[in-house]
Amino acid sequence: MAHDAITSGTIRELQTSDPAIGDLLNLEAQRQATTIELIASENHVSSAVMHAMGTCLTNKYAEGYPGARYYGGCIHHDGIERIAIERACKLFNCKFANVQPHSGATANQALFFAYLNPGDVFASLVLADGGHLTHGLKINMSGKWFSAVHYPLTYDTASPNHERIDYDAVERVCLDAKQQHGDKFKLLMCGYSAYPRVIDFPRFRAIADKCNVMLHADVAHIAGLIASGVHPSPFPHCHVVTTTTHKTLRGPRGGLFLTNDEDLAKKYDRALFPGIQGGPLMHVIAAKAVAFGEALKPEFKTYSQQVVKNAQALASALTQRGYRITSNGTDNHLMLVDLRGKSTDLIGAEAEKWLELAGLICNKNGIPQDPRPPKQTSGIRLGTPATTTRGFKEPQMQMIATFIDRVLTAGLQGEAALTAEAGKVRAEVRDLCEKFPLPA
Ligand SMILES: Cc1ncc(COP(=O)(O)O)c(C=O)c1O
Repeated sequence: MAHDAITSGTIRELQTSDPAIGDLLNLEAQRQATTIELIASENHVSSAVMHAMGTCLTNKYAEGYPGARYYGGCIHHDGIERIAIERACKLFNCKFANVQPHSGATANQALFFAYLNPGDVFASLVLADGGHLTHGLKINMSGKWFSAVHYPLTYDTASPNHERIDYDAVERVCLDAKQQHGDKFKLLMCGYSAYPRVIDFPRFRAIADKCNVMLHADVAHIAGLIASGVHPSPFPHCHVVTTTTHKTLRGPRGGLFLTNDEDLAKKYDRALFPGIQGGPLMHVIAAKAVAFGEALKPEFKTYSQQVVKNAQALASALTQRGYRITSNGTDNHLMLVDLRGKSTDLIGAEAEKWLELAGLICNKNGIPQDPRPPKQTSGIRLGTPATTTRGFKEPQMQMIATFIDRVLTAGLQGEAALTAEAGKVRAEVRDLCEKFPLPA
């Protein structure tokens, strides 16, 4: 793609006023335009979402909530935030939304602050099995100030549920926590960063009710699929829901809180502001409103359906080439590729680097019960939200599987073979990207 076609007017202006940043932005715009983005948590926003973020709203302090601000001059900010809230509620079919969390991590932090006291106990999936660091990692606030008990996946290669959530074990872990910690056990968390299967929210609710704890779903990854009806909704089963807005939902980077319970909503609002955050990022909230508006359109449902079809096509094409997909496939936008299926010499960290040489961007990822340490891993995580936004369909997924296999096979043969093959694939990736340009 010609240099000028990628560089926007805004970036050109910055290259004049601040060349150090402008030039790097220009390079990044070109990198995104000419590489295939397979990171499951990333996407390409529309130009409307992009533009909403780069506006005069960034100039304003609007601490507080619509109609109750701590600063003057918020009349239009109230309007924008109310629209964002209204659209979020419509999109997720719930009654209350807080659109102010700066990120998914902050949304979760406020959740702990709202409903738990330091030392309280909650149940979640461990990071190594697909959970998130805000779900109780020891070096995260969630694991340092609160006490996490973790429920397992099924680890039994003979079982059709291998590497899927073991719901009976979730119940056992929760009942144990209740017995051991009594009323200090307060929260059951579901929703993950690297879990390719449908989450059974009604089953989780039954367990939460049995233990008399609150059920929280962190749907950061699957929010767009839920909004489109492509994944079952956490409502009415979950008491509270948090999410990011920038993954399958294809909005700006940010967080969101949702509930049907007025009392829980009030507690969350106070915990987020003034508990955790100061002034809301109103330019981002405007962009969230625009993204929610886009997600309410029928085209977004078609997009989400294609995201899943693409993930399934990619998983099956990789399986045909000898890679093992954990849990034997995917129901959503992502998959974990166990590279050992192809060769025990393949390491996730190396695969990530080799693929980047060819313009295929992904991340190393531990697989359940991974014998390798987190900085190496036996797997990579692949997702289809960004490639689907580009317009890729099943035939392009087949091509990507071939690209991946060619690069990794060459990598196993040594540096010379890798350099040669990655160079060839890089040219083909550029061609493909040119045929499917990013949103303007
Ligand atoms: C399940 C889950 N929750 C929370 C987050 C945190 O989101 P953020 O990076 O916006 O803080 C992520 C991000 O990857 C996630 O996957």
